[in-house]
Amino acid sequence: MSSQAVATPEAIQQFNADIERHHLAALWNVAARLMPKEPEPRIQPYLWRWKTLRTLCLRSGELTPIEKAERRVLGLINPGLKDKYAATETLWAAVQLILPGEIAPAHRHSAAAVRFIIEGKGAYTTVEGDKCIMERGDLVLTPAWQWHDHGNESAEPMIWMDGLDLPIVRDLDAVFVEHGAARAQAVSKTSGGSERRFDQAGLRPAWEEPVTEASPLLNYKWAKTETALRRLAQVDASPFDDVALEYVNPTTGGPVLPTNVSLANDVVPIFTQRGCTGCHAGGGIGVDLGDLSLNGSANKIFGELTVEVSPTYNKVRVDLANPAQSLILTLPSFEPEPDAHPNATFTSPSDPDYLILLAWITEGAKQN
Ligand code: HEC
Ligand SMILES: [Fe+2]
Repeated sequence: MSSQAVATPEAIQQFNADIERHHLAALWNVAARLMPKEPEPRIQPYLWRWKTLRTLCLRSGELTPIEKAERRVLGLINPGLKDKYAATETLWAAVQLILPGEIAPAHRHSAAAVRFIIEGKGAYTTVEGDKCIMERGDLVLTPAWQWHDHGNESAEPMIWMDGLDLPIVRDLDAVFVEHGAARAQAVSKTSGGSERRFDQAGLRPAWEEPVTEASPLLNYKWAKTETALRRLAQVDASPFDDVALEYVNPTTGGPVLPTNVSLANDVVPIFTQRGCTGCHAGGGIGVDLGDLSLNGSANKIFGELTVEVSPTYNKVRVDLANPAQSLILTLPSFEPEPDAHPNATFTSPSDPDYLILLAWITEGAKQN
């Protein structure tokens, strides 16, 4: 039996008031909220109609001069994230309007941005001195900390969709911005230069090293993308996503904006959660026949994947030159093969675990 005296409700109340006053929290009072049994996402499904977005966007143009707004942007705020000003916990989404003759002044920030052009033709975004002319359907990148300004030299309003990793950068307390000295930055490079260098799939300048920080191609033109989609449709389609193309960094084949996947935090847990360690641990058949243990410390697994050579396939298990051809991805692959991997396979090229592994390898298979 406990010898402790029973606390009075008054004493508990006083205690709770005291800890609050000293900026403390009793974990036993908040544990359920901090660590629920299951994730409790705050975001809610919501549909923003283009008709509404467009009308309000154009109205903002009548009411708010660009000088006042800097960027004339309407953010899509998830009804569950009103205080966070975000579309999802990690992403900012918005529509932006720029009217003929306007300039949205040069700045750069730690958050990275993608833009999909929805309406208009002939406005530009200058990214680090490269003036990219934009039209409907284009994807334009402004990677983190690269100078960018927008201007509309056409006779039509232009509207696009912005996507930024702002909320997650903010969660890391890493948001900062710098404003340019001049409204529009100098066009110091050949206009559309990144396109001329890099927009021919499968070809890149021979004397340049692959660029891994962010895609060096800044404007993915819709006309080329549409042609590529239609050509692909003549020969093939995914059984899951129909005819779909992924925007990639033309020098690496990897994602256009790096995601900094961590080996220890993102990759290693997949092997356990996915049941790989059911066979690839201890005396399992994956160790017996494949000589591969996916169990243990991140350092040990790093060695198995990047240093050790597979006795059966006679190569290391990650392939930096051809990430998608890495054994760690092809063996438990979604591809139907006669010798399909037993039991544990990735379901499709959009399987999130598959994408995390692929991103880790594409970003250099670092010991991070
Ligand atoms: C049901 C048992 C089993 C499970 C579960 C399993 N594997 Fe395997 N794995 C094997 C066997 C058996 C081999 C050896 C045969 C071969 O190489 O095809 C192997 C071989 C491999 C190889 C090649 C090893 C080498 O270098 O020769 C890789 C890579 C691999 N598995 C990855 C995975 C991953 C990743 C997972 C989880 C997504 C997984 N395996 C889940 C049984 C399994
Ligand atoms: Fe910006």
